[in-house]
Amino acid sequence: MLGTSNQILILFAHPALEKSRVNRHLIQAVRGLDSVTVHDLYEEYPDLHINVKLEQNLLLAHDIIVFHHPFYWYSSPAILKEWQDLVLQHGFAYGHEGVALRGKKFLSAITTGGSDKAYCRQGYNFFTIRELLVPFEQTARLCGMEYLPPFVVHGTHQLREQDQIARHAEDYRRAIVALRDGAIAWDKLSQVKLLNENLALIL
Ligand SMILES: Cc1cc2nc3c(=O)[nH]c(=O)nc-3n(C[C@H](O)[C@H](O)[C@H](O)COP(=O)(O)O)c2cc1C
Repeated sequence: MLGTSNQILILFAHPALEKSRVNRHLIQAVRGLDSVTVHDLYEEYPDLHINVKLEQNLLLAHDIIVFHHPFYWYSSPAILKEWQDLVLQHGFAYGHEGVALRGKKFLSAITTGGSDKAYCRQGYNFFTIRELLVPFEQTARLCGMEYLPPFVVHGTHQLREQDQIARHAEDYRRAIVALRDGAIAWDKLSQVKLLNENLALIL
């Protein structure tokens, strides 16, 4: 995929965007980019009635699928679980004939209230963020997708809006643009646990 142009689908799920401090800046940073579709699930489906065919067609039309959401109870907000349960159908996403997603790439882009130090054996969340994201990783693998190191913004409540949140939003935009343009050192991805832990290494 180096040097090629990829279509990116960002499935965005935040149930109260008007109260968001961090995600509203992150999503704003990638809106309007060429070849990047921002699909706001709560805006599209306020009653949670997901249009399965439309969502599957969106998946077919893109090369890189991003689940972008705040981390809620060590997982995603409810609509994204509903989306997975309905859209990733047998015969479409998995199973003998379910090859629609094979070869695509998958990225989790999340924000957590807990700091990075909370996500380790000595911290109050005990598990690392990579361990807690394993259900997403294995879902991607079952669908034949390549799981990328996740983009994670930790410690959201401590972040200052003017500089720190703005810097994460800029990093998110840079990462998405690089994925779109195939301008990533794919061979170096195995050296990082998080996509945004050392952007200079992989961009
Ligand atoms: C229902 C709910 C569950 C949450 N669960 C977690 C969690 O499991 N781990 C964590 O670190 N933060 C958790 N948080 C904190 C959110 O991740 C944090 O508020 C969010 O990432 C901030 O982004 P925002 O400013 O865009 O809303 C939770 C918040 C809510 C409202």
